Amino acid sequence: MHISPRHPLLTSLVNTLRDTTLSPLVFRHTIHEITKLLAYEGLRDFELSSKRIKTWRGEDTFEHIDESSIVVISVLRAALPMHEALIETLPGAVSGFLGMRRDEQSYRSVLYYDRVGDCTGKTVIIVDPMVATGGSLCDAIEIVKQKGAEKVITLNIIASPEGIHAVEQAYPDVTIVIAQIDEKLNENKFIIPGLGDAGDRAFNTL
Ligand code: PRP
Repeated sequence: MHISPRHPLLTSLVNTLRDTTLSPLVFRHTIHEITKLLAYEGLRDFELSSKRIKTWRGEDTFEHIDESSIVVISVLRAALPMHEALIETLPGAVSGFLGMRRDEQSYRSVLYYDRVGDCTGKTVIIVDPMVATGGSLCDAIEIVKQKGAEKVITLNIIASPEGIHAVEQAYPDVTIVIAQIDEKLNENKFIIPGLGDAGDRAFNTL
């Protein structure tokens, strides 16, 4: 299932990213802002837990998100600014990292690094700004499921319709929160209109 929240703030921030005159600093900052809005939407139905805390009137019990039940996974490297933003909001979450690059001949994702621990019983939030063919996201979902994830939510910024369809077909139980679904993929499997290579733009490697 995918959720594509409609909000002028989100639309405007996403379209800001398409401007290639943005510095890498502003590009990453804009991604931070978008990620926080996506997290707001993605955690809407998260079940709260009671927590006993010390208040000005003595000990009392209030509802909180149990952050230790959340694992945030980044697909390197374009997802790093999203990761940073999300663990600012959820500082008690566990982090994991998957290194994947797309083979430009076959367009298939190739895993080169796996630093994801046991996910048994956890809610796993996978972040990656781009969903082109959907191959990288499907592979990341498969990995966290193999590691025991109970629930998987993905936060993504721009997708192609083909990519969203592929992930939904393969993993109907996963919630994909997507800021913007663009028009199509081109013959080189780039999202049109898209924003170019998000990793290169975030880290000045154009
Ligand atoms: C981009 C993006 C996704 C992937 C999407 O990463 O961040 O991980 O491509 O493509 P797909 O849906 O067709 O699999 P990229 O390979 O450019 O690596 P980078 O983040 O290191 O730049």
